[in-house]
Amino acid sequence: MNVLLIGSGGREHALAWALSASPMLATLFAAPGNPGIAEVATCVPLDVADHAAVAAFCKERDIALVVVGPEAPLVAGLVDDLTDAGIRAFGPTAAAAQLEGSKAFTKDLCKRFGIPTAAFETFREAAPAKAYVRAQGTPIVIKADGLAAGKGVIIAQTLEEADSAIDDMLAGAFGPAGAEIVIEAFMQGEEASFFALCDGRMALPLATAQDHKQAFDGDTGPNTGGMGAYSPAPVMSEDLCRQTMDEIITPTLKAMRAEGIPFTGVLYAGLMITEEGPRLVEYNVRFGDPEAQVMMMRLQDDLLLLILGALDQMLDTMSVRWRDEAALSVVMATRGYPGAYEKGSAIGGLETAAAMDDVEIFQAGTAMQDGTLVANGGRVLNVTARGETVAKAQARAYAAVDAIDWPEGFCRRDIGWRAVAREAETA
Ligand code: GLY
Repeated sequence: MNVLLIGSGGREHALAWALSASPMLATLFAAPGNPGIAEVATCVPLDVADHAAVAAFCKERDIALVVVGPEAPLVAGLVDDLTDAGIRAFGPTAAAAQLEGSKAFTKDLCKRFGIPTAAFETFREAAPAKAYVRAQGTPIVIKADGLAAGKGVIIAQTLEEADSAIDDMLAGAFGPAGAEIVIEAFMQGEEASFFALCDGRMALPLATAQDHKQAFDGDTGPNTGGMGAYSPAPVMSEDLCRQTMDEIITPTLKAMRAEGIPFTGVLYAGLMITEEGPRLVEYNVRFGDPEAQVMMMRLQDDLLLLILGALDQMLDTMSVRWRDEAALSVVMATRGYPGAYEKGSAIGGLETAAAMDDVEIFQAGTAMQDGTLVANGGRVLNVTARGETVAKAQARAYAAVDAIDWPEGFCRRDIGWRAVAREAETA
């Protein structure tokens, strides 16, 4: 079958790489794709915000399935419009994508259906929001309701920080995403991500991962879209995975069905592992980036078959196998990211790095200029490796990073530090 993948980042390169291995695939198209994706797919310069144009392309090229990578087209209703046009598309409808598109929606759902999460209130005015902060005390978490590219969350340590976060968000620092804000209790614990494939009725647990959102070593500096990730997350014991399924994922699917908006797609739960057990921090409605990169390195089964299983509501007859090895991905970004940065610097040494055993380089913000691969964004490369342990995967990934010749790039040198320390403790 012909498949169209929507997106252009490292996540989509990893998904394209996995999809391209399926014996069921005829031609893989990607819109708009990137030079890395172009190695395994035919890239097409479609405007993915123009849903009618995407549908017309699907009809013209006999596309049997559209796989949507990023959240924005899901929240904008691409799956709804393709489905209305008679084209099969994988991912939630716009109504179900509110689980990521509106934090207030998710928190309200959790409250009404008893899904464990931090205590919260939502506000559209500064005065009651500030009064709530004073009643609760600090530290406290202030979140923009809508999509803010991973940046609309402030952990305020003082009342002054909380007041300015409230003022800034309501004044439009994150655009319309901050017209409503969620203020929630700060939770102590270790963060982990849990992924499940959902068919509207049930969920098949996928894998666990942990990412590093801050720009610099030691988890310091500004928040980014993610500077690296590894899978599995050692903190997620079998018991915790079971508890997450029983107390968070399955009740959410039940709640969404009860609301008349069943969820089909990948449900990505950002969790806080507290002393009382897992608590939902937030939902995303798609694979993580760079979590997909490490998950695809560990996936043993056919991704296309799993996606079709979800669309056909066949997940109760399916299972999914993962390699026992760990995978770890280091994001190489352009100097200056997540602030201002220059585009157009040349990247060399990729062939040498990619030829190393158990290494894959997924491309994100890259472009081809006169036959040379250049940086074309903030996060540019995802240098990803497998190993028997997180420490071994980390060593391989950094050996590959060191083979890349890109003076204008930088990366964190400590991706996986928590898991590596845990492995050393238990060795
Ligand atoms: N790695 C965070 C995200 O995909 O949202």
